Amino acid sequence: MPSIYTVLPVLALFAVSAQAANDPNSYAETDKVRVTDLALDVHVAFKSRQIIGKVELSLDWRDKGARELKLDTRDLSIATVELVDAAGKASPAKFSLGATDKILGTPLLIEFGEQTPKVRVSYATNPNASGLQWLSEAQTAGKKHPFLFSQSQAIHARSWVPLQDTPAVRFTYKADVHVPKPLRAVMSADNSPDAMVGGGEFHFEMDKPIPSYLLAIAVGDIAVKTTGPRTAVYAEPSMVDKAAKEFEDTEKMIVATEKLYGDYRWGRYDILVLPPSFPFGGMENPRMTFATPTVIVGDKSLTSLVAHELAHSWSGNLVTNSSWKDIWLNEGFTSYVENRIVEAVYGREQGDMEDVISQFGLKKEMADLAPKDQLLILAPLDGRDPDEALTDVAYIKGAWFLTFLEKRYGRPAFDAFLRGWFDAHAFQSVDSDVFVAYLQKNLVDKHPGKTKPAELDAWLRQPGLPETAEPAKSVRFDKVDAARAEWLAGKRDAATLAGAKWSTQETVRFLEGLPEKLDAKQLTELDGALHFNGTANGEIAQRWYPLTVRSGFAAARPSIEKFLTGIGRRKLIMPTWEALMATPDGLAFAEGVFAKARQGYHPITTTSVQAALDKAKKKNG
Ligand code: BES
Ligand code: ZN
Repeated sequence: MPSIYTVLPVLALFAVSAQAANDPNSYAETDKVRVTDLALDVHVAFKSRQIIGKVELSLDWRDKGARELKLDTRDLSIATVELVDAAGKASPAKFSLGATDKILGTPLLIEFGEQTPKVRVSYATNPNASGLQWLSEAQTAGKKHPFLFSQSQAIHARSWVPLQDTPAVRFTYKADVHVPKPLRAVMSADNSPDAMVGGGEFHFEMDKPIPSYLLAIAVGDIAVKTTGPRTAVYAEPSMVDKAAKEFEDTEKMIVATEKLYGDYRWGRYDILVLPPSFPFGGMENPRMTFATPTVIVGDKSLTSLVAHELAHSWSGNLVTNSSWKDIWLNEGFTSYVENRIVEAVYGREQGDMEDVISQFGLKKEMADLAPKDQLLILAPLDGRDPDEALTDVAYIKGAWFLTFLEKRYGRPAFDAFLRGWFDAHAFQSVDSDVFVAYLQKNLVDKHPGKTKPAELDAWLRQPGLPETAEPAKSVRFDKVDAARAEWLAGKRDAATLAGAKWSTQETVRFLEGLPEKLDAKQLTELDGALHFNGTANGEIAQRWYPLTVRSGFAAARPSIEKFLTGIGRRKLIMPTWEALMATPDGLAFAEGVFAKARQGYHPITTTSVQAALDKAKKKNG
């Protein structure tokens, strides 16, 4: 069918000139051709640690003269490529792999004699695919079955499927997945809690167009427990009851978000709890959030993670950054919405405490960032790995900007504005310019006099924090601060500190306000009263262990070793790794621990720890 652009050449010219530049983190030439649907048929082979099979891509040719399709791949073996015509007839295609780039991977170049509606690629993944982690039986809780999970964001989907790996492109997908018989497969698609498990065959469909970084799969001994009318928890059998209890408020969170920003548009919202090596806190895979088990601490104090991943169902999955330089449109908006959900479900004080902690973290991180990395709207990420460019600036400065707008315009106007933003751009990929223009037209111009252009510019395009950034405040934290001051002054016994028992956030606040170093007597007293060594709470551990390291408190080392080998969530363990690496003695200890820990780590975590090690070694001689 001819598009209006072939009918109206003038419009076509305009469309080309108005087209955003290609995403520098992908080989895809999206002005020529776009993938609109993807059909996978794959075998999950645990013995060889490979996904093997084929993918059929449906193509929307935008440039009628184009005769080449460039796909992203990383470490894939390509067996055959076939062009599939409108009648479904397949014929072999000429293809080649281009030069490999360290960040981008390897382009797969496919030649077309004439444009066909589909192309089929048979391929196999590499056992070390950057987007997959293969766990042995021993690395699971149950110890009986192996486990596989993917992590595609930002540019790792290309390591397990050849595709246009850019968030500018959206496609629907279906998948036939063949797994060893007793195991269950799940995907970021229409999982059914009642799916027949045991036959080894699973079929999935995602009928909403999604960007490639939301393509996800997991396979293992996975049980299910329902937590609400459209929610369930998936996890290894020994974990599933605990997880269902921890996440029992998920339906309440969905209802609260719908009240603010309109219907949840994805059908079910399920959560898969992964083994502890999962390198992130959570990943917003549509219909199946992937989550770290480290937030299951028994008192729901860390379930803002669910609020966050759920919020992405609007900010990110529905309205998506079109390239990674604009990730604040995903993560900043999501962190803002996350806090609104926490406030609605757990009250204002909980939201305030979480904001204070986030803002503390942002200031600390920003102190070490170059000015160009302190901007909300980053320069295009040419030659940069998007995973490395991601900081709290996108998350927390981004959320803080929206809080600023909320305060200036008031909740009724701002809430309606944000809901309008999601509605107007649903299932689209957008950049910061689109947002800035929308903001101007739908908020700033509609309510004159509430913000000045220079104030907005300071948030959007200047480094650091603007003068108009009002810090969050928490009454309960004021009490924690007072208690800490008394203890440090020797006027209070550590045993009385937690009083009526602190929440995770209050304990975190206590730790963050302590001096750089304490003496052994103080640390022993704190540990005796509050049982920090060996804590199962990673938010506490990630602040306590670095303090013990800086203070030269060797008594914590056995617990540190357990902590660093037991979990792979990057954000939790990196502060302790870095603290250790700051002294020669700590560095030697760290190297010993890393030699043991790395077998259990995800490729992403291994890369981060290795990079920190290399840097520390260079510095220390
Ligand atoms: N989408 C992110 C995770 C991500 C971002 C992976 C960029 C790879 C590249 C996810 O929604 C996220 O932000 N997770 C946070 C959780 C949080 C802020 C509550 C995490 O993993 O720590
Ligand atoms: Zn996020």
